[in-house]
Amino acid sequence: MFDLITGKVQDENRQGEAYAPFANDPSVYKKRFYIESYGCQMNFADSEIVASILNKEGFGATRNVEDADLIFVNTCSIREKAEQTVRKRLTEFRKLKKKRPGTLVAVLGCMAERLKSKFLEEEKLVDIVVGPDAYRTLPALVTEAEGGQRAINVLLSREETYADISPVRLNSNGISAFVSIMRGCNNMCSFCVVPFTRGRERSRDAASIVQECRELFENGYKEVTLLGQNVDSYYYAMPSQPSSMDGHLNEQGQSIGDGNVITFALLLELIAQISPELRVRFSTSHPKDITDEVLHTMARYQNICKYIHLPVQSGSTRILQLMNRTYTREWYMAKVKRIREIMPDCGISSDIITGFCTENEEDHKDTLNIMAYSRYDFSYMFFYSERPGTLAHRRYQDDIPEETKKRRLQEVIDLQGRLSHESNRKDLGKIFIVLIESESKKDSNKWMGRSSQNKVIVFPKDNSNYTKGDYVTIKVNDCTQATLLGEIVKM
Ligand code: 5AD
Ligand code: SF4
Repeated sequence: MFDLITGKVQDENRQGEAYAPFANDPSVYKKRFYIESYGCQMNFADSEIVASILNKEGFGATRNVEDADLIFVNTCSIREKAEQTVRKRLTEFRKLKKKRPGTLVAVLGCMAERLKSKFLEEEKLVDIVVGPDAYRTLPALVTEAEGGQRAINVLLSREETYADISPVRLNSNGISAFVSIMRGCNNMCSFCVVPFTRGRERSRDAASIVQECRELFENGYKEVTLLGQNVDSYYYAMPSQPSSMDGHLNEQGQSIGDGNVITFALLLELIAQISPELRVRFSTSHPKDITDEVLHTMARYQNICKYIHLPVQSGSTRILQLMNRTYTREWYMAKVKRIREIMPDCGISSDIITGFCTENEEDHKDTLNIMAYSRYDFSYMFFYSERPGTLAHRRYQDDIPEETKKRRLQEVIDLQGRLSHESNRKDLGKIFIVLIESESKKDSNKWMGRSSQNKVIVFPKDNSNYTKGDYVTIKVNDCTQATLLGEIVKM
């Protein structure tokens, strides 16, 4: 059991942390694996769980595919283009396999779930197919595939959260880490394949999440991003035995162990309390689920970053209904207003889809003006891509011509560019606390970091003693559309 207050672990059997993911000496490991990830942050976090499971089996990671006995591709199905990219890559790996017989190729993640045995039977592209809830069975599947069988496990689970597995941090900067807090999704957005590829929503044990964050902090990490398809519906009932959280009070003196139910607001609070030096971020929020309680919790803790990714998808109530988003344009606008009331300095970003079924110019204009109303700092923008099996595929015709989808997308991109620039110009002359993440890619005499609002800030090192992982006070004196430029100020 893990004590949420002291952070002490009594009877742990966590996996993975004793192993260095990349060993210089190949003889240390039975086999070498190479893993490539596509898609969302959740997929990258999953690859770290996979690496941990494989490490435990005595497999070591390599950054060089040519050295690998096992090649893993963690795939994304969200849009057709994502799938095409992965297919091309798998074809390249098949060629590599011809040169090196005995190399095994495994497809993981959402495409594995969507296409299942098709990969093995029709296309003979790969040797192993594993869905997102079946990673624990990977070692057994590798053994099966080595014996010449075609190995597959795409069972979805209602329980699996990999709570006990300590992810091996791959390609990490050692400063920020992703922590998965839930899996799956119960929202049936009509355009989205995720409920089919990742299954039902389930929340991970709160104690194991807090423990993972605490360990990250103890190991020098300064920022955690809590991940879920819909973090605001996080809900975990602590087991009914006397809980280590009973009697634990938050800053307001309210008991946070009440009923032993952990909501997202409470989880945020528990993680924020690990240390004021640990920044907490989260993604993604569904506008229908983010509560005032979450907003107030964010406002109360300086180390919970003032940034919310709040995908709108469309600004037209009619289209939102067809998308099954369960909110109206007005409801979304009220939510943005509420965020700004409670946290005037909060950054907001969005996801937008153009050219969804039946979308007309009026609907499109509604999207453009909800963007202007919301003053997004940043958006991820896409044109609609019909996905087999989704509600929209079954119910509606994908009737907007591609050139119209793309023209509208361009208008959305252009507007977002102006909004981002405007938002950055407003920051000129302001002071921000920046967490240094790395050297600037373009100039080794500069540092790069982020503000609480998730804006990238680049500034000269200035002969100071600061280094990666330090907090530094920066005054902004210039900007582009994508970046703030500043200088260190002595406070
Ligand atoms: N077509 C285009 N974009 C999509 N997204 C999800 N499904 C589709 C689709 N079929 C976008 C949504 C979502 C983001 C992760 O990807 O905007 O929020
Ligand atoms: Fe992530 Fe969705 Fe892509 Fe799956 S389909 S990898 S959940 S973005």
